[in-house]
Amino acid sequence: MKALVYGGPGKKSLESRPKPEIRAPGDAIVKIVKTTICGTDLHILKGDVATCAPGRILGHEGVGVIDSVGAGVTAFKPGDRVLISCISSCGKCEYCRKGLFSHCTTGGWILGNEIDGTQAEYVRTPHADTSLYRIPAGADEEALVMLSDILPTGFECGVLNGKVAPGSSVAIVGAGPIGLAALLTAQFYSPAEIIMIDLDDKRLEVARRFGATHTVNSADGKAAERVKALTDGVGVDTAIEAVGIPATFLICEDIVAPGGVIANVGVHGVKVDLHLDRLWSQNITITTRLVDTVTTPMLLKTVRSKKLDPAKLITHRFALDQILEAYDTFGHAADTHALKVIISA
Ligand SMILES: NC(=O)c1ccc[n+]([C@@H]2O[C@H](COP(=O)([O-])OP(=O)(O)OC[C@H]3O[C@@H](n4cnc5c(N)ncnc54)[C@H](O)[C@@H]3O)[C@@H](O)[C@H]2O)c1
Ligand SMILES: [Zn+2]
Ligand SMILES: [Zn+2]
Repeated sequence: MKALVYGGPGKKSLESRPKPEIRAPGDAIVKIVKTTICGTDLHILKGDVATCAPGRILGHEGVGVIDSVGAGVTAFKPGDRVLISCISSCGKCEYCRKGLFSHCTTGGWILGNEIDGTQAEYVRTPHADTSLYRIPAGADEEALVMLSDILPTGFECGVLNGKVAPGSSVAIVGAGPIGLAALLTAQFYSPAEIIMIDLDDKRLEVARRFGATHTVNSADGKAAERVKALTDGVGVDTAIEAVGIPATFLICEDIVAPGGVIANVGVHGVKVDLHLDRLWSQNITITTRLVDTVTTPMLLKTVRSKKLDPAKLITHRFALDQILEAYDTFGHAADTHALKVIISA
């Protein structure tokens, strides 16, 4: 089969690999129909993710058709159409029983990281019964690819942890696919204001189309002042960090209102200053989370009922043969205006 293989920092290639086989009774082999590229794949290619070894097939998102199942799989059979979660979970360990699927002792984020991933014609998915989701008949499968990772991430790490509430004020720093997913799902709760902050005017324009009430370009270093001005000097109830660098976490520290929440989503590679000297008295909460994908069944229902339209995040389409071109397009988002690229296998 064809597969996109990580070759070490800065290296990737489209290679021919053997089709994966069942190794454990809970495994399923899924024939990929659609997959995509995540910002995290770009982090891997930069060499930021030590757990991902050279030779690994990348990708942790996708939809497909069950090709074969291990003897222990009871929920799926060959021919079933499924959504693949970026998080594998056994459903039985102490963390899974608490809903912390991302910390599953034999799963978590392993696909396209510690085991071969979805940017291929086939993928082996461990713990299939509890890590795959049946796709409703007639569903838009491209739209559902957005539910493997970015929608649950924006929603769980940003909106739920950030306690977005009716009439509240929200700021989202970073208008990439994750920040935009937080923007779309924050609107389940009817906040009064959603202020989107980014350096890229094109992405801010998209954010306005997706429901942001205000946008702030932070290139001049005055984002916090402008958010304060937009909120009568108070700041916001929820500040969602969706970039993963010190500068953007600092914006969140500067704009969170007394009693508010900073919900960190970004993956941080370096340490960040925490200004407890200013914040100790502000009754704030800071949350962190690796996406658990516990809300995937709920999000599937919102897509089915058209309360949520994740297809709006798709900007480009490629065949698996063109995946290097797809990486190029996704990796130069400022020029290509790419958000999510769909790859058909
Ligand atoms: N916690 C989790 O489980 C989880 C899961 C998936 C992704 N992530 C992380 O979420 C973050 C966002 O992901 P993404 O795919 O949307 O990334 P992305 O790189 O596509 O988007 C980041 C956005 O931040 C903007 N930005 C960069 N520097 C900025 C600055 N100084 N001020 C304001 N905006 C700035 C960029 O213009 C871009 O639009 C990444 O760190 C990613 O690794 C976390
Ligand atoms: Zn991802
Ligand atoms: Zn588990």
